[in-house]
Amino acid sequence: MKAFFEIDQLTISFGGLTALDNIALSVDQGEIFAVIGPNGAGKTTLFNCISGLYRPDRGTLFFKGVSLQGKKPDRIARLGIARTFQNIELFAHMNTMENIMLGRHIFMQTGLLRGVFMWGRHSYAGREELRHRKKVEEIIDFLDLQAVRNKPVGALPYGTQKLIELGRALALEPELLMLDEPCAGMNTEEKQDMIFWVKDIQDELGITILLIEHDMNMVMDISDRILAVNFGQPILTGSPDEVSRHPEVLQAYLGAEEG
Ligand SMILES: Nc1ncnc2c1ncn2[C@@H]1O[C@H](COP(=O)(O)OP(=O)(O)O)[C@@H](O)[C@H]1O
Ligand SMILES: [Mg+2]
Repeated sequence: MKAFFEIDQLTISFGGLTALDNIALSVDQGEIFAVIGPNGAGKTTLFNCISGLYRPDRGTLFFKGVSLQGKKPDRIARLGIARTFQNIELFAHMNTMENIMLGRHIFMQTGLLRGVFMWGRHSYAGREELRHRKKVEEIIDFLDLQAVRNKPVGALPYGTQKLIELGRALALEPELLMLDEPCAGMNTEEKQDMIFWVKDIQDELGITILLIEHDMNMVMDISDRILAVNFGQPILTGSPDEVSRHPEVLQAYLGAEEG
């Protein structure tokens, strides 16, 4: 039987550099599975392979028994895999509602711009618009973003913008959500909030989460299992306890902090 999400022998090189070398992982439905490793370890490259932005040289990827091999990013998104990016990728002049609505684009039959901006209630686009709006309002309620729903996102605090990005990924109604360093650049309070939301997405929405995070405290706190990588190579997969005590993991992190 195939796992919920399973990768085997994943390998990709850029020129002479092997960014990922024979990576295997298996994620169970409902868990928070983290990938950790120093900068340049290949974590974002892994997400890019999963979401179809990069084409691996070798290896297999199966989501609910369906191979992702050769599929384009929009196909993979439609299968139920959403992600956030390491850097904020919002439209600064658009408001919260509109930015989250952009996450619905893969469902929009009448085209993105018409879907967002046409308001005729009785037109097909109008009915579709209402349906998407309802979903977006649910997400705004869930993430407690009512107070900023009509505000241009560019002027909002960093932590709020990261939360809106999370909302946009949720708008895709994913079964697997990939978060690339959701706490990067945050202060302690913003981090604690983000940790709360990630756990809430797991608990309340039942969404499986693949998490890249540099902040060891966050990872240890919320992950069910962790894969540690270094220079594209797997070190081990284990519980937070096992991983945090592994000599090679300690070495990789201490080494990275010295540099
Ligand atoms: N498109 C690309 N072209 C060339 N090299 C890349 C590309 N994407 C990633 N790399 C290289 O792969 C390695 C891993 O990068 P990345 O996955 O971003 O690491 P991490 O997210 O763990 O910090 C780095 O050495 C990076 O320079
Ligand atoms: Mg990265």
